[in-house]
Amino acid sequence: MAIFKKKSRPDESIDMKRLPHHIAIIMDGNGRWAEQRHLPRTAGHQQGVEAIREIVKTASEMNIEMMTLYAFSTENWKRPENEVQFLMNLLVDYLRKEIEELNRQKVCISTIGDLSRFHGTVRDEIEMAIAKTASNNGLKMNIALNYGGRNELTRVIKQLMKEAVEGQVQTESISEDDIRSRLDTAAMPDPDLLIRTSGEQRISNFLLWQLAYTELYFTDTLWPDFRGEHFKEAIKDYQNRKRRFGGLT
Ligand code: FPP
Repeated sequence: MAIFKKKSRPDESIDMKRLPHHIAIIMDGNGRWAEQRHLPRTAGHQQGVEAIREIVKTASEMNIEMMTLYAFSTENWKRPENEVQFLMNLLVDYLRKEIEELNRQKVCISTIGDLSRFHGTVRDEIEMAIAKTASNNGLKMNIALNYGGRNELTRVIKQLMKEAVEGQVQTESISEDDIRSRLDTAAMPDPDLLIRTSGEQRISNFLLWQLAYTELYFTDTLWPDFRGEHFKEAIKDYQNRKRRFGGLT
């Protein structure tokens, strides 16, 4: 039997009543984008911020409820020091320069990941952006910073064991909900759609628990080239999927 994936047609329009509530994005391909242009890798990250600007604007205009962006993983510290430093500066710069526009768009910023590793300006700027956008009721922009799915689950297990030792939980009665409610994403719905750019088809330690029933969408487009039209194409593809969550229809 031939197996084929139904591709959305360019003229097919998005059903605004069936939008994914939460879209997670692995913004991959910045380095390759720069290498193709004989530029330093950092130029790819810089251009990647332009893509973030456009996708946040597009998502806001479409009334998407929530996006989680994988900006810095627990493994990204292994990169050369100058690249790590550049990414930190880029984040600070983005939050400083963009905050007014984000407020205008009613975007509410949150983060997931272990922020304890960030200090000084980086930590201050993140906390400031969260506080300044806290009352906005538009798109929830959740930024994954020093985030790793295994790290998150390890922290949950440590927490549960501590509570068990202190007699606050009974080991035998630990439920999926006890785990879910201790994740960094406790207050957030699981993503309906995951987009990964640059042709790589893996999860890379992103939202390991939360992606259990998420629809996965991979595109060859490199993150710095990712635009509103690509984002809409991913949503159209999502709308052609049949989600069964392990059931029948
Ligand atoms: C992956 O591309 C991208 C990252 C590790 C960083 C993503 C960060 C940004 C787009 C900008 C900073 C974030 C904010 C919120 C301002 P890669 O470097 O792994 O690319 P490659 O696989 O082609 O080498």
